[in-house]
Amino acid sequence: MTVRVLHVAAELYPLLKTGGLADVVGALPPALLPLSADARVVMPGFPAVIAGLDNLHPVAHTGPRFGIGNPVIEFGTLRSNGTGVYIVRADAFYDRPGNPYLDAAHHPYPDNGRRFAMLGWAASLLAQGADPAWLPEVVHAHDWHAGLTAAYLKAAAAEQHRRMPPSIITVHNLAYQGVFPASLFGELGLPGGFFQVEGAEFYGQVSFLKAGLFFSDKITTVSPTYAHEIQTPAQGAGLDGLLRKRTHDVSGILNGVDYTVWHPSIDPAIAKPYWVDDMEGKAACKAALQARFGLTARTDTPLFGVVSRLTEQKGLDALLASVPEIVARGGQLVILGTGEPTLEAGLKRAAHEHPDAVAVELGFDETLAHSIIAGSDVVAVPSRFEPCGLTQLYGLAYGTLPLVHHVGGLADTVIDASLENLADGMATGFVFERFEITAVTAAIRRAFALFDRPDEWIATQRHAMKQNFGWEASALRYYDLYQRLAHHR
Ligand code: ADP
Ligand code: GLC
Repeated sequence: MTVRVLHVAAELYPLLKTGGLADVVGALPPALLPLSADARVVMPGFPAVIAGLDNLHPVAHTGPRFGIGNPVIEFGTLRSNGTGVYIVRADAFYDRPGNPYLDAAHHPYPDNGRRFAMLGWAASLLAQGADPAWLPEVVHAHDWHAGLTAAYLKAAAAEQHRRMPPSIITVHNLAYQGVFPASLFGELGLPGGFFQVEGAEFYGQVSFLKAGLFFSDKITTVSPTYAHEIQTPAQGAGLDGLLRKRTHDVSGILNGVDYTVWHPSIDPAIAKPYWVDDMEGKAACKAALQARFGLTARTDTPLFGVVSRLTEQKGLDALLASVPEIVARGGQLVILGTGEPTLEAGLKRAAHEHPDAVAVELGFDETLAHSIIAGSDVVAVPSRFEPCGLTQLYGLAYGTLPLVHHVGGLADTVIDASLENLADGMATGFVFERFEITAVTAAIRRAFALFDRPDEWIATQRHAMKQNFGWEASALRYYDLYQRLAHHR
Protein backbone atom coordinates (compact mmCIF):
# COMPACT_ATOMS: atom_id res chain seq x y z
CA MET A 1 0.00 0.00 0.00
CA THR A 2 1.32 3.42 -0.85
CA VAL A 3 2.33 5.66 2.00
CA ARG A 4 3.33 9.30 1.80
CA VAL A 5 6.24 10.20 4.08
CA LEU A 6 7.68 13.61 4.84
CA HIS A 7 11.32 13.57 5.97
CA VAL A 8 12.35 16.58 8.02
CA ALA A 9 16.10 17.19 8.05
CA ALA A 10 18.84 19.79 7.92
CA GLU A 11 21.13 18.09 5.38
CA LEU A 12 20.70 16.34 2.05
CA TYR A 13 23.37 14.76 -0.14
CA PRO A 14 24.44 15.95 -2.72
CA LEU A 15 23.30 19.49 -1.93
CA LEU A 16 24.44 20.06 1.61
CA LYS A 17 26.48 17.72 3.78
CA THR A 18 28.54 17.87 6.94
CA GLY A 19 28.29 14.15 7.78
CA GLY A 20 26.39 10.90 7.43
CA LEU A 21 22.98 12.49 8.04
CA ALA A 22 23.10 13.95 4.54
CA ASP A 23 23.97 10.58 3.00
CA VAL A 24 21.01 8.95 4.74
CA VAL A 25 18.49 11.65 3.87
CA GLY A 26 19.73 11.60 0.28
CA ALA A 27 19.52 7.82 -0.09
CA LEU A 28 16.45 6.77 1.90
CA PRO A 29 13.71 8.45 -0.21
CA PRO A 30 14.84 6.84 -3.49
CA ALA A 31 15.32 3.51 -1.68
CA LEU A 32 11.69 3.70 -0.54
CA LEU A 33 10.36 4.25 -4.05
CA PRO A 34 10.34 0.56 -5.12
CA LEU A 35 8.30 -0.15 -1.98
CA SER A 36 5.72 2.34 -3.20
CA ALA A 37 6.45 4.78 -0.44
CA ASP A 38 6.25 8.31 -1.74
CA ALA A 39 8.86 10.21 0.27
CA ARG A 40 9.60 13.91 0.19
CA VAL A 41 12.00 16.01 2.25
CA VAL A 42 11.54 19.37 3.94
CA MET A 43 14.65 21.32 4.89
CA PRO A 44 15.84 24.87 5.44
CA GLY A 45 16.37 26.94 2.32
CA PHE A 46 20.15 27.13 2.55
CA PRO A 47 21.83 28.70 -0.50
CA ALA A 48 23.35 25.40 -1.72
CA VAL A 49 19.95 23.74 -1.48
CA ILE A 50 18.16 26.46 -3.42
CA ALA A 51 20.86 26.30 -6.09
CA GLY A 52 20.50 22.53 -6.49
CA LEU A 53 16.74 22.20 -6.94
CA ASP A 54 14.82 22.30 -10.21
CA ASN A 55 11.44 23.97 -10.76
CA LEU A 56 11.40 25.61 -7.37
CA HIS A 57 8.05 27.31 -6.79
CA PRO A 58 6.07 28.58 -3.79
CA VAL A 59 3.41 26.29 -2.33
CA ALA A 60 2.48 28.10 0.88
CA HIS A 61 2.95 31.38 2.71
CA THR A 62 3.13 30.75 6.40
CA GLY A 63 2.75 34.22 7.92
CA PRO A 64 5.40 35.76 10.17
CA ARG A 65 6.96 33.65 12.87
CA PHE A 66 10.03 33.58 15.16
CA GLY A 67 10.63 37.27 14.71
CA ILE A 68 11.23 37.28 10.99
CA GLY A 69 8.88 38.29 8.19
CA ASN A 70 6.85 35.92 6.03
CA PRO A 71 8.69 32.68 5.32
CA VAL A 72 7.55 30.80 2.23
CA ILE A 73 7.44 27.04 1.74
CA GLU A 74 8.65 26.21 -1.76
CA PHE A 75 8.82 22.92 -3.62
CA GLY A 76 11.30 21.64 -6.16
CA THR A 77 13.01 18.45 -7.26
CA LEU A 78 16.50 17.17 -6.79
CA ARG A 79 18.36 17.26 -10.08
CA SER A 80 20.24 14.01 -9.43
CA ASN A 81 17.28 11.68 -8.77
CA GLY A 82 14.02 13.61 -8.81
CA THR A 83 13.34 13.46 -5.06
CA GLY A 84 10.73 16.07 -4.12
CA VAL A 85 12.10 18.65 -1.70
CA TYR A 86 10.28 21.39 0.19
CA ILE A 87 12.38 24.24 1.42
CA VAL A 88 11.57 26.77 4.06
CA ARG A 89 12.55 30.01 2.41
CA ALA A 90 13.48 32.33 5.25
CA ASP A 91 16.55 34.18 4.10
CA ALA A 92 17.03 36.03 7.38
CA PHE A 93 17.69 32.62 8.95
CA TYR A 94 19.25 30.53 6.23
CA ASP A 95 20.91 32.72 3.63
CA ARG A 96 24.34 32.35 5.21
CA PRO A 97 27.34 30.83 3.45
CA GLY A 98 29.09 27.64 4.55
CA ASN A 99 28.21 25.36 7.43
CA PRO A 100 24.49 25.15 8.26
CA TYR A 101 24.99 25.33 12.01
CA LEU A 102 28.19 27.28 12.63
CA ASP A 103 29.50 30.70 11.69
CA ALA A 104 32.88 31.33 10.06
CA ALA A 105 34.58 31.16 13.48
CA HIS A 106 32.99 27.71 14.05
CA HIS A 107 30.61 28.98 16.73
CA PRO A 108 26.95 27.96 16.68
CA TYR A 109 24.79 30.76 15.30
CA PRO A 110 23.20 32.58 18.24
CA ASP A 111 19.73 32.20 16.69
CA ASN A 112 19.98 28.43 16.05
CA GLY A 113 17.03 27.82 18.36
CA ARG A 114 14.71 29.93 16.25
CA ARG A 115 16.30 28.79 12.97
CA PHE A 116 15.51 25.15 13.64
CA ALA A 117 12.23 25.78 15.45
CA MET A 118 11.20 27.22 12.09
CA LEU A 119 12.01 23.91 10.42
CA GLY A 120 9.89 21.85 12.82
CA TRP A 121 7.05 24.32 12.65
CA ALA A 122 7.05 24.42 8.83
CA ALA A 123 7.09 20.61 8.73
CA SER A 124 4.03 20.54 11.00
CA LEU A 125 2.26 22.92 8.61
CA LEU A 126 2.94 20.57 5.70
CA ALA A 127 1.58 17.73 7.81
CA GLN A 128 -1.59 19.77 8.25
CA GLY A 129 -2.06 20.29 4.52
CA ALA A 130 -0.05 23.42 3.72
CA ASP A 131 0.54 21.90 0.28
CA PRO A 132 -2.96 20.92 -0.86
CA ALA A 133 -1.41 18.72 -3.57
CA TRP A 134 0.45 16.43 -1.18
CA LEU A 135 -0.55 15.52 2.35
CA PRO A 136 1.92 13.31 4.23
CA GLU A 137 0.59 10.27 6.10
CA VAL A 138 3.72 9.92 8.25
CA VAL A 139 6.22 12.57 9.33
CA HIS A 140 9.79 11.35 9.82
CA ALA A 141 12.10 13.80 11.62
CA HIS A 142 15.88 13.44 11.80
CA ASP A 143 18.02 14.61 14.73
CA TRP A 144 17.55 17.62 16.99
CA HIS A 145 17.26 20.05 14.09
CA ALA A 146 13.85 18.56 13.35
CA GLY A 147 13.08 17.72 16.99
CA LEU A 148 10.22 20.19 17.47
CA THR A 149 8.20 18.76 14.59
CA ALA A 150 6.31 16.29 16.78
CA ALA A 151 5.74 18.93 19.47
CA TYR A 152 4.12 21.27 16.96
CA LEU A 153 2.00 18.40 15.65
CA LYS A 154 0.79 17.48 19.14
CA ALA A 155 0.04 21.14 19.87
CA ALA A 156 -1.94 21.50 16.63
CA ALA A 157 -3.85 18.28 17.31
CA ALA A 158 -4.89 19.52 20.75
CA GLU A 159 -5.81 22.97 19.51
CA GLN A 160 -7.82 21.80 16.52
CA HIS A 161 -9.26 18.67 18.10
CA ARG A 162 -8.23 16.54 15.18
CA ARG A 163 -5.79 13.80 14.35
CA MET A 164 -2.43 14.63 12.88
CA PRO A 165 -0.19 12.27 10.91
CA PRO A 166 1.90 10.04 13.18
CA SER A 167 5.53 10.95 13.67
CA ILE A 168 8.89 9.22 13.92
CA ILE A 169 12.17 10.66 15.09
CA THR A 170 15.45 9.09 14.07
CA VAL A 171 18.41 9.72 16.34
CA HIS A 172 21.55 9.90 14.24
CA ASN A 173 23.61 11.11 17.16
CA LEU A 174 22.43 11.50 20.75
CA ALA A 175 25.40 13.72 21.57
CA TYR A 176 23.87 16.63 19.69
CA GLN A 177 20.68 17.64 21.46
CA GLY A 178 19.85 21.22 20.51
CA VAL A 179 19.63 22.57 24.06
CA PHE A 180 18.77 26.27 24.45
CA PRO A 181 18.09 28.65 27.34
CA ALA A 182 14.62 28.51 28.90
CA SER A 183 13.98 32.03 27.62
CA LEU A 184 13.64 30.60 24.11
CA PHE A 185 10.56 28.62 25.09
CA GLY A 186 8.29 31.67 25.09
CA GLU A 187 9.22 32.36 21.46
CA LEU A 188 8.34 28.88 20.24
CA GLY A 189 4.57 29.30 20.33
CA LEU A 190 4.09 25.93 22.04
CA PRO A 191 1.61 25.38 24.89
CA GLY A 192 3.11 26.33 28.27
CA GLY A 193 2.46 22.79 29.52
CA PHE A 194 5.04 21.44 27.07
CA PHE A 195 7.84 23.02 29.10
CA GLN A 196 8.10 20.39 31.80
CA VAL A 197 10.01 17.20 32.52
CA GLU A 198 7.28 15.30 30.67
CA GLY A 199 7.97 17.37 27.59
CA ALA A 200 10.66 19.61 26.13
CA GLU A 201 12.28 20.70 29.40
CA PHE A 202 15.76 19.36 30.14
CA TYR A 203 17.41 20.49 33.37
CA GLY A 204 15.81 23.91 33.19
CA GLN A 205 16.52 24.40 29.48
CA VAL A 206 14.69 23.65 26.23
CA SER A 207 15.88 20.50 24.46
CA PHE A 208 14.79 20.01 20.87
CA LEU A 209 15.94 16.39 20.83
CA LYS A 210 14.14 15.59 24.06
CA ALA A 211 10.97 17.15 22.65
CA GLY A 212 11.34 14.86 19.63
CA LEU A 213 11.92 11.78 21.79
CA PHE A 214 9.00 12.65 24.03
CA PHE A 215 6.35 13.70 21.51
CA SER A 216 7.10 11.41 18.53
CA ASP A 217 5.08 8.22 18.17
CA LYS A 218 8.13 6.10 17.36
CA ILE A 219 11.86 6.47 17.90
CA THR A 220 14.47 4.88 15.73
CA THR A 221 18.21 5.06 15.69
CA VAL A 222 20.72 4.00 13.12
CA SER A 223 21.98 0.63 14.37
CA PRO A 224 20.68 -2.10 16.67
CA THR A 225 23.64 -1.84 19.04
CA TYR A 226 23.31 1.94 19.38
CA ALA A 227 19.57 1.49 20.09
CA HIS A 228 20.63 -0.58 23.07
CA GLU A 229 23.54 1.68 24.12
CA ILE A 230 21.47 4.87 24.29
CA GLN A 231 19.23 3.24 26.85
CA THR A 232 22.15 2.93 29.29
CA PRO A 233 23.37 5.67 31.65
CA ALA A 234 26.87 5.42 30.16
CA GLN A 235 25.76 6.35 26.66
CA GLY A 236 22.33 7.86 27.19
CA ALA A 237 23.62 11.45 27.44
CA GLY A 238 21.02 12.21 30.11
CA LEU A 239 18.15 10.89 27.99
CA ASP A 240 18.48 7.19 28.76
CA GLY A 241 15.69 7.34 31.37
CA LEU A 242 13.21 8.66 28.81
CA LEU A 243 14.45 6.17 26.22
CA ARG A 244 14.07 3.26 28.65
CA LYS A 245 10.56 4.40 29.46
CA ARG A 246 9.78 4.32 25.75
CA THR A 247 11.75 1.17 25.06
CA HIS A 248 8.84 -0.50 23.22
CA ASP A 249 8.79 2.38 20.75
CA VAL A 250 12.58 2.36 20.18
CA SER A 251 14.21 0.38 17.40
CA GLY A 252 17.55 0.31 15.61
CA ILE A 253 17.58 0.27 11.82
CA LEU A 254 21.01 0.10 10.28
CA ASN A 255 21.93 2.73 7.70
CA GLY A 256 22.58 1.47 4.20
CA VAL A 257 25.09 2.33 1.51
CA ASP A 258 24.03 4.06 -1.67
CA TYR A 259 26.00 1.87 -4.09
CA THR A 260 25.17 4.22 -6.95
CA VAL A 261 27.45 6.72 -5.18
CA TRP A 262 29.85 4.43 -3.32
CA HIS A 263 31.01 1.52 -5.46
CA PRO A 264 34.52 1.10 -6.89
CA SER A 265 33.26 -0.28 -10.21
CA ILE A 266 31.42 2.92 -11.13
CA ASP A 267 33.00 5.64 -9.00
CA PRO A 268 34.01 8.55 -11.25
CA ALA A 269 36.07 10.11 -8.45
CA ILE A 270 38.69 7.36 -8.26
CA ALA A 271 41.83 6.83 -10.36
CA LYS A 272 40.77 3.50 -11.86
CA PRO A 273 37.65 1.39 -11.36
CA TYR A 274 37.91 -2.09 -9.89
CA TRP A 275 35.69 -4.78 -8.45
CA VAL A 276 36.01 -7.96 -6.53
CA ASP A 277 36.98 -10.07 -9.56
CA ASP A 278 39.41 -7.56 -10.98
CA MET A 279 41.33 -5.73 -8.29
CA GLU A 280 44.05 -4.27 -10.49
CA GLY A 281 42.51 -0.79 -10.31
CA LYS A 282 42.92 -0.67 -6.56
CA ALA A 283 46.71 -0.57 -6.89
CA ALA A 284 46.33 2.37 -9.27
CA CYS A 285 44.11 4.11 -6.73
CA LYS A 286 46.72 3.59 -4.02
CA ALA A 287 49.51 4.92 -6.23
CA ALA A 288 47.41 7.95 -7.17
CA LEU A 289 46.66 8.66 -3.53
CA GLN A 290 50.33 8.44 -2.56
CA ALA A 291 51.21 10.78 -5.41
CA ARG A 292 48.40 13.21 -4.52
CA PHE A 293 49.79 13.51 -0.98
CA GLY A 294 53.50 13.34 -1.79
CA LEU A 295 53.97 10.06 0.07
CA THR A 296 56.58 7.54 -0.98
CA ALA A 297 55.19 5.28 -3.71
CA ARG A 298 55.20 1.90 -1.98
CA THR A 299 53.13 -1.21 -2.53
CA ASP A 300 54.74 -3.34 0.16
CA THR A 301 53.27 -1.58 3.17
CA PRO A 302 49.71 -0.79 4.29
CA LEU A 303 48.25 2.64 3.77
CA PHE A 304 45.79 3.68 6.48
CA GLY A 305 43.09 6.19 5.51
CA VAL A 306 40.73 8.39 7.54
CA VAL A 307 37.79 10.48 6.31
CA SER A 308 36.11 12.06 9.28
CA ARG A 309 34.74 14.95 11.21
CA LEU A 310 37.49 15.80 13.69
CA THR A 311 35.55 15.68 16.94
CA GLU A 312 36.09 13.88 20.22
CA GLN A 313 33.53 11.26 19.16
CA LYS A 314 35.76 9.99 16.39
CA GLY A 315 38.63 8.92 18.66
CA LEU A 316 41.33 10.21 16.35
CA ASP A 317 43.37 11.38 19.32
CA ALA A 318 44.03 7.67 19.96
CA LEU A 319 45.00 7.16 16.33
CA LEU A 320 47.32 10.15 16.57
CA ALA A 321 48.97 8.53 19.58
CA SER A 322 49.47 5.41 17.45
CA VAL A 323 51.22 7.23 14.59
CA PRO A 324 54.70 6.22 15.86
CA GLU A 325 53.63 2.56 15.62
CA ILE A 326 52.47 3.01 12.01
CA VAL A 327 55.59 4.92 11.03
CA ALA A 328 58.00 2.57 12.83
CA ARG A 329 56.55 -0.35 10.89
CA GLY A 330 56.96 1.49 7.61
CA GLY A 331 53.24 2.15 7.13
CA GLN A 332 51.52 5.24 5.79
CA LEU A 333 48.57 7.33 6.94
CA VAL A 334 46.34 9.77 5.06
CA ILE A 335 43.72 11.85 6.86
CA LEU A 336 40.99 14.07 5.45
CA GLY A 337 38.95 15.93 8.00
CA THR A 338 37.85 19.14 9.55
CA GLY A 339 36.83 20.11 13.06
CA GLU A 340 38.44 20.75 16.43
CA PRO A 341 41.47 23.06 16.14
CA THR A 342 43.62 21.12 18.64
CA LEU A 343 43.11 17.87 16.76
CA GLU A 344 43.73 19.60 13.44
CA ALA A 345 46.99 21.01 14.82
CA GLY A 346 48.08 17.63 16.25
CA LEU A 347 47.49 15.88 12.96
CA LYS A 348 49.30 18.60 11.03
CA ARG A 349 52.25 18.24 13.38
CA ALA A 350 52.39 14.48 12.77
CA ALA A 351 52.36 15.09 9.00
CA HIS A 352 55.14 17.65 9.38
CA GLU A 353 57.25 15.22 11.40
CA HIS A 354 56.79 12.33 8.94
CA PRO A 355 56.36 13.88 5.50
CA ASP A 356 56.96 10.61 3.63
CA ALA A 357 54.51 8.61 5.70
CA VAL A 358 51.78 10.85 7.07
CA ALA A 359 49.64 13.34 5.16
CA VAL A 360 46.75 15.46 6.36
CA GLU A 361 44.27 17.53 4.42
CA LEU A 362 42.07 19.83 6.47
CA GLY A 363 38.74 20.58 4.84
CA PHE A 364 35.67 18.94 3.38
CA ASP A 365 36.19 17.38 -0.03
CA GLU A 366 33.76 14.78 -1.38
CA THR A 367 35.98 13.72 -4.31
CA LEU A 368 39.03 13.30 -2.12
CA ALA A 369 36.96 11.28 0.35
CA HIS A 370 36.27 8.75 -2.43
CA SER A 371 39.95 8.68 -3.44
CA ILE A 372 41.00 7.92 0.13
CA ILE A 373 38.43 5.16 0.63
CA ALA A 374 39.53 3.60 -2.67
CA GLY A 375 43.30 4.12 -2.38
CA SER A 376 43.84 3.01 1.22
CA ASP A 377 44.31 -0.54 2.44
CA VAL A 378 42.69 0.13 5.80
CA VAL A 379 40.09 2.72 6.79
CA ALA A 380 40.44 3.66 10.46
CA VAL A 381 37.29 4.49 12.46
CA PRO A 382 38.41 4.31 16.10
CA SER A 383 35.36 6.20 17.40
CA ARG A 384 34.62 6.42 21.12
CA PHE A 385 30.98 5.93 20.14
CA GLU A 386 29.41 5.57 16.71
CA PRO A 387 25.65 5.49 16.12
CA CYS A 388 26.12 3.77 12.77
CA GLY A 389 29.11 5.04 10.83
CA LEU A 390 29.20 5.00 7.07
CA THR A 391 32.89 5.19 6.20
CA GLN A 392 33.51 1.65 7.48
CA LEU A 393 30.72 0.47 5.18
CA TYR A 394 32.26 2.36 2.28
CA GLY A 395 35.59 0.74 3.22
CA LEU A 396 34.05 -2.73 3.01
CA ALA A 397 32.66 -2.01 -0.45
CA TYR A 398 36.06 -0.80 -1.67
CA GLY A 399 38.05 -3.69 -0.17
CA THR A 400 39.58 -1.22 2.29
CA LEU A 401 39.48 -3.15 5.54
CA PRO A 402 37.91 -1.19 8.42
CA LEU A 403 39.78 -0.85 11.70
CA VAL A 404 37.10 -0.04 14.26
CA HIS A 405 36.13 0.15 17.92
CA HIS A 406 33.56 -2.49 18.94
CA VAL A 407 30.78 -0.01 19.54
CA GLY A 408 27.47 1.09 17.99
CA GLY A 409 27.08 0.48 14.28
CA LEU A 410 30.77 -0.38 13.97
CA ALA A 411 30.16 -3.46 16.12
CA ASP A 412 27.18 -4.39 13.95
CA THR A 413 29.01 -4.23 10.64
CA VAL A 414 32.65 -5.31 10.95
CA ILE A 415 33.90 -8.80 11.84
CA ASP A 416 37.30 -9.04 13.41
CA ALA A 417 40.19 -10.80 11.70
CA SER A 418 40.78 -13.11 14.66
CA LEU A 419 42.41 -16.44 13.94
CA GLU A 420 39.12 -18.29 14.17
CA ASN A 421 37.22 -15.77 12.03
CA LEU A 422 39.97 -15.89 9.43
CA ALA A 423 39.89 -19.69 9.51
CA ASP A 424 36.12 -19.64 9.00
CA GLY A 425 36.34 -17.04 6.21
CA MET A 426 34.20 -14.57 8.18
CA ALA A 427 36.63 -11.72 8.86
CA THR A 428 36.10 -8.29 7.28
CA GLY A 429 38.32 -5.98 9.34
CA PHE A 430 40.07 -5.24 12.61
CA VAL A 431 37.98 -4.70 15.72
CA PHE A 432 39.30 -3.58 19.10
CA GLU A 433 37.21 -4.00 22.22
CA ARG A 434 38.18 -1.19 24.59
CA PHE A 435 38.84 2.41 23.74
CA GLU A 436 42.50 2.56 24.79
CA ILE A 437 45.61 3.58 22.89
CA THR A 438 47.14 0.16 23.47
CA ALA A 439 44.07 -1.48 21.93
CA VAL A 440 44.23 0.77 18.87
CA THR A 441 47.91 0.04 18.52
CA ALA A 442 47.32 -3.69 18.84
CA ALA A 443 44.69 -3.54 16.09
CA ILE A 444 47.16 -1.65 13.89
CA ARG A 445 49.77 -4.35 14.52
CA ARG A 446 47.26 -7.00 13.50
CA ALA A 447 46.57 -5.08 10.29
CA PHE A 448 50.31 -5.14 9.53
CA ALA A 449 50.48 -8.85 10.34
CA LEU A 450 47.61 -9.69 7.99
CA PHE A 451 49.04 -7.44 5.26
CA ASP A 452 52.17 -9.59 5.39
CA ARG A 453 50.06 -12.64 4.49
CA PRO A 454 48.80 -11.63 1.06
CA ASP A 455 46.60 -14.67 0.52
CA GLU A 456 44.69 -14.10 3.72
CA TRP A 457 44.55 -10.36 3.12
CA ILE A 458 43.04 -10.87 -0.31
CA ALA A 459 40.56 -13.43 1.01
CA THR A 460 39.46 -10.98 3.70
CA GLN A 461 39.18 -8.18 1.15
CA ARG A 462 37.02 -10.34 -1.09
CA HIS A 463 34.76 -11.27 1.78
CA ALA A 464 34.46 -7.61 2.79
CA MET A 465 33.56 -6.57 -0.75
CA LYS A 466 30.86 -9.21 -0.97
CA GLN A 467 29.00 -7.87 2.06
CA ASN A 468 25.70 -6.31 1.11
CA PHE A 469 24.83 -3.22 3.12
CA GLY A 470 22.55 -1.79 0.44
CA TRP A 471 19.49 0.19 1.47
CA GLU A 472 16.94 -2.46 0.46
CA ALA A 473 16.69 -4.25 3.81
CA SER A 474 16.68 -1.06 5.88
CA ALA A 475 14.22 0.73 3.59
CA LEU A 476 11.89 -2.23 4.06
CA ARG A 477 12.08 -1.86 7.83
CA TYR A 478 11.26 1.85 7.64
CA TYR A 479 8.46 1.06 5.23
CA ASP A 480 6.99 -1.49 7.66
CA LEU A 481 7.13 1.10 10.41
CA TYR A 482 5.38 3.68 8.22
CA GLN A 483 2.68 1.17 7.29
CA ARG A 484 2.06 0.20 10.86
CA LEU A 485 1.81 3.83 11.94
CA ALA A 486 -0.24 5.11 9.03
CA HIS A 487 -2.72 2.32 8.52
CA HIS A 488 -3.10 0.50 11.83
CA ARG A 489 -3.70 3.23 14.35
P1 ADP B 1 29.24 11.22 10.92
O1 ADP B 1 27.87 11.35 10.37
O2 ADP B 1 29.26 11.02 12.39
O3 ADP B 1 30.15 12.30 10.49
P2 ADP B 1 29.43 8.87 9.17
O4 ADP B 1 30.51 7.86 9.04
O5 ADP B 1 28.05 8.37 9.33
O6 ADP B 1 29.86 9.84 10.37
O7 ADP B 1 29.37 9.77 7.87
C1 ADP B 1 30.38 10.64 7.50
C2 ADP B 1 30.14 11.05 6.08
O8 ADP B 1 30.76 12.31 5.86
C3 ADP B 1 30.73 10.11 5.07
O9 ADP B 1 30.03 10.20 3.86
C4 ADP B 1 32.16 10.68 4.90
O10 ADP B 1 32.73 10.32 3.68
C5 ADP B 1 31.84 12.16 4.96
N1 ADP B 1 32.94 13.01 5.43
C6 ADP B 1 33.35 13.22 6.70
N2 ADP B 1 34.34 14.11 6.74
C7 ADP B 1 34.58 14.48 5.47
C8 ADP B 1 35.50 15.38 4.85
N3 ADP B 1 36.37 16.09 5.55
N4 ADP B 1 35.45 15.52 3.49
C9 ADP B 1 34.56 14.79 2.76
N5 ADP B 1 33.69 13.93 3.28
C10 ADP B 1 33.69 13.78 4.62
C1 GLC C 1 25.59 10.56 12.75
C2 GLC C 1 26.46 9.49 13.39
C3 GLC C 1 26.91 8.42 12.43
C4 GLC C 1 25.79 7.99 11.51
C5 GLC C 1 25.22 9.21 10.80
C6 GLC C 1 24.10 8.87 9.85
O1 GLC C 1 26.24 11.69 12.36
O2 GLC C 1 27.56 10.07 14.06
O3 GLC C 1 27.37 7.31 13.16
O4 GLC C 1 26.27 7.07 10.56
O5 GLC C 1 24.71 10.10 11.73
O6 GLC C 1 23.05 8.18 10.49
